[in-house]
Amino acid sequence: MLNDSLHMLGEQLRRSYLESTRALVAAVEARDPYTHDHSQRVSQYAKTIAIRMNLNDREINRIETAAILHDIGKIGIPDSILLKTEQLLPEEFAVVRCHPTIGVKILSHTTYLRRELPVILHHHERYDGRGYPEGLAGEDIPIGARVLAAADALDAMLSRRAYRDALSMVQVRQEFKKQHGLQFDPVVTDVVLEWLDESGEALVAKLNNKIPDVTSA
Ligand SMILES: [Fe+2]
Ligand SMILES: [Fe+2]
Repeated sequence: MLNDSLHMLGEQLRRSYLESTRALVAAVEARDPYTHDHSQRVSQYAKTIAIRMNLNDREINRIETAAILHDIGKIGIPDSILLKTEQLLPEEFAVVRCHPTIGVKILSHTTYLRRELPVILHHHERYDGRGYPEGLAGEDIPIGARVLAAADALDAMLSRRAYRDALSMVQVRQEFKKQHGLQFDPVVTDVVLEWLDESGEALVAKLNNKIPDVTSA
């Protein structure tokens, strides 16, 4: 009985903590009209991929939560770099590359998210080991981070930027094929390609209806 109450209280605390961190995420995304709702979409994509990979419910939940919070460390990146539309200088890129580590630092003050932290820390690792922050490769990268990396890239490809249009579904599929086993886990890539085969066009149609025209903002 007492155990049940403590468990419920713990869950409530975890939920209210998550709600406040979501507010932080919204603050980060409000700075850049091109990333509006990015984390929400990435979370949906990551969940879909995780379900299609038949991962267990705990892992799916962990990935979904980590995805919502994955770019929270961008709060520590100055506007002059975060909002820059021209190509970043090497030293500016080095600052951007700190955002997974900053994010984990912000979130490590609580025990509620300790299992999500490795997924957040490693969301920019590449399967071939050429990513950051630690240059992990293959299965050394937590599975959640491999799923999140693909979902994150998918949203970037499907979103318009100041310097380019959104990619077409044909281009997105080409990119995933090209990065099979390089940027992305091969199994995750196969699952993404199969999903986009079935639902890619419907996804684009949904995005076109929902995403505000940022050029007129
Ligand atoms: Fe990121
Ligand atoms: Fe992201």
